[in-house]
Order: sequence, then C-alpha cells, then structure tokens
Amino acid sequence: MAKMWAGRTDGATEKIADDFNSSIHFDCRMYRQDITGSMAHAAMLAAKNIISEKDAETLIAGLESILSDLENGSLVFDMECEDIHMFVEQVLTERIGEVGKKLHTARSRNDQVALDIRMYLRDESEYITDLLKKLVSTITNRAEEYKSAIMPGYTHLQRAQPITFGHHLMAYAMMFLRDMGRISDCKKRMNVSPIGSCALAGTTYDTDRRFEAKKLGFDDICLNSLDGVSDRDFCAELLSCFAILMMHLSRFSEEIILWSSWEFKFVELSDAFTTGSSIMPQKKNPDMAELVRGKTGRVYGDLMALLTTLKGLPLAYNKDMQEDKESIFDACDTVKMCLQVFEGMIGTMKPIPENMKKAAQAGFINATDLADYLVKKGLPFRSAYKISGQIVARCIADGLVLETMPLDIYKTYSDLFDDDLYGEIDLSTCVEKRISEGGTSVTSVESQIKFVRDNL
Ligand code: ARG
Repeated sequence: MAKMWAGRTDGATEKIADDFNSSIHFDCRMYRQDITGSMAHAAMLAAKNIISEKDAETLIAGLESILSDLENGSLVFDMECEDIHMFVEQVLTERIGEVGKKLHTARSRNDQVALDIRMYLRDESEYITDLLKKLVSTITNRAEEYKSAIMPGYTHLQRAQPITFGHHLMAYAMMFLRDMGRISDCKKRMNVSPIGSCALAGTTYDTDRRFEAKKLGFDDICLNSLDGVSDRDFCAELLSCFAILMMHLSRFSEEIILWSSWEFKFVELSDAFTTGSSIMPQKKNPDMAELVRGKTGRVYGDLMALLTTLKGLPLAYNKDMQEDKESIFDACDTVKMCLQVFEGMIGTMKPIPENMKKAAQAGFINATDLADYLVKKGLPFRSAYKISGQIVARCIADGLVLETMPLDIYKTYSDLFDDDLYGEIDLSTCVEKRISEGGTSVTSVESQIKFVRDNL
C-alpha cells in the first residue's frame, strides 16, 4: 500500500519493516478517541477560518460515518495501515475525497497520539473508579454484617490481639478509597490537552487550542509544545496508581488464600469463584485470589516497562513512545478484570465466625488486656507486661488459657488480681473497650463504615 508519508522517499518499505513499525493491531482500540479528536479539530479549523465551514461539515460527517460503521461492524480495521491515525485518515479520504486531505492541517500524529492516549486513559480511569466504588461498597456491606465477629488480629502472622472481621475488612476499604483518591488526583494532570502542539514546535496557523480542548472536555492545555508531545507522565502516574491498587488487591488475596485453607477456615469461598483439581477430588482452590496476586507482578511489569522506555528519550517525540500503549492497555485490562472478579469473590464468600472465635480463644490474644488490667490497678506498664508474660508461660505449661487459670494462681503473681479480672480479659470486653478512634470496637467500626460510605 502507498504510504501516506511517501514523498521524500518512495515509501516502498520492506514488509518486515512495515510489520515492525506498525501499531494498528493495538492502537486500533483508541478509534473512538481518535475520531472524536479529529471532529473537534475540524470544527476548530473552521472556527478559525483555516478551512471553510462546508469542508468542516463534510469532514465531520465523514468521521461520523466511520465511527458508526466501526461500531456496527460494517467497517473493519485495515491491518496494512501503520496506525489508527493513518487508518482513519485513509478511510476518510476514500469516503469524502480531496477534502479528507485537509484534516491534518495544523496537526501532527505526535500531538494526535498524545491526545488520544489522554482521552483513552481518562475514560478508562472513570470506568476503573466505578469498579473500585463497587468493590468498596461490597467490602463495606460485608464489614457491617460481621462488625461483631471476633477473630485474632495478627502481627508477624502470630495471633496478637482480638479484632473483629468487620474491622479487618474496613482496613481494605480504606486502602481502596485511597486508590480512588490517587486516580482522581492523577486525572487532574491527565486532563490537559496537548493538541495544537503539532509536531513539536507549535504551528504558524492561527489555531485556537483552547477551543479544541474545551470541546473535548479538557480542563486546560499543555503550555509547552515540546512537553505536550513528549509528556507521558500521566501514563506513568496512572500505572503507579494501578501498581499500588494491585498491591492492595494482592495483600487481600493472600489473606483470602490463607483464610480459606483448612488451617484457618475463616471463610468459605463460593463455588462460583473457586476451581477444582484435575486429580485431587477433595480440592477447592482459591484460583481467583491467586491469579489476582499473580497478575500484580504483571502490572508492576507494565509500569517498569513504561518507565524504562521513557528514561533515555531526548525531546521531543521518538518512535520508542509507541511502546507506551501496550503497557498501558495491558495494565488497564488487568486491573479491570481483577477488580470485577475480586468484587464477586468478596460479595459471595461465606465468613465462618465460629472458626474465627475458636482461633481467637487459643492464642493468648488478651494478654495485653491482662497487663492493662494491672496497670489500671496502679502497676507500671513494664512490670505488668512482665507478670502477664510469666502467667502466659504458666498457662502454656499447665495447658490452660488466661480465662481458665484459677484466681488463686493469679494471686501468686500479684495481689492486685481480683475476681473482676475475668470480665476484663473476656474477648468481647477486649474488643468492646477498644473505643479509641479507628479501633476495633463495634462503634468505631460503625463510624469507619459511615466515613467510607460518605466518601464514596
Ligand atoms: N503510532 C505512533 C505512536 O503510537 C503515532 C505517532 C507517530 N509519529 C511519528 N512521528 N511517527 O507513537
């Protein structure tokens, strides 16, 4: 096929060079943004009398027909074209003739591609934010259901202090709420229009960049044309947000995997979100959670690939930048899938509070409360800590727990111990008394739930 840029050269490139150079097989997914951008460009050219009103109408009608034909499937991408920008311009010229050749006035593929990516990622971030919103609200609903289910809280994966399952879930709701905030911060810098930067230096035509930006829903324009065509910060920034989001999903996945093992059995995943083994008939595997954990590495890889592509590039556009898109697209696709699967898995899992309670009763997780009991009776914390530790060791030796150790033995450690101690170390008391803001008590978890819901 004749190259649109044939002129200085005859454009007769080797097939392998064409294949290597071409990006249409992945950038075709930006067709809607590309066409919408071109419509705004044609309107601007007419508004500034660079082309006639009639030509603009012809261009816009032609672009509209391409858009609807692509959408209804009557037009398919020509993989012989170099990229989506060339494809649209070629079909346009085939359809409306010579006027089609006026579209690229005062524009370059360099600012065009930068515009398309910003618009594409703007749409994707909105969609991903909606998915996050759905996930956070599912987590919050589950937290409300289990706001008084006592389980062990862990540090070093060792039973530490009693908490509620609702409190644990709300920790993740907070993380995902921050992820939403990060994406929305990133969108502020993303939503700035590069179009009109042209190849690198701006243009001699009397264009109106702000007209075009406004038509396309941008808040502002890039103020330096070299930066306008070279900047991919918004891509790296969004992928960083995604990497952090995936890290959160991955930590949560790890816990789901642990919790659904026979060793814990704090939750039973729904059959709809588990798989079986081809050989072991008893297996019910948490594949969804494992895949989310696995795909986290993939999204980190996308971020690293992008940063590495950009790190050595002189200003302004370099063809290396064509490599940005597959990382971005892969990260968007992966995040979208993971969020949807994860939300389904959390929404349908069945927590098992009896098992959580059993685990909570076995690990001396009220030892801090025992020490606090002595502190409230006047002992300095460090001394109380030591006595409590000795009592735990004694319990272990005697096969008892703090709740079943007789008072007369307690008294051999300190005469501050009295009958009221059993109420103080009761697990429900331990949870209920943790009323500090952000703590695990039911009232505190309720206010966390309210905060998250108000912020959604
Ligand atoms: N397909 C190219 C890309 O994705 C479009 C920009 C091409 N610009 C150029 N000067 N060759 O980066």
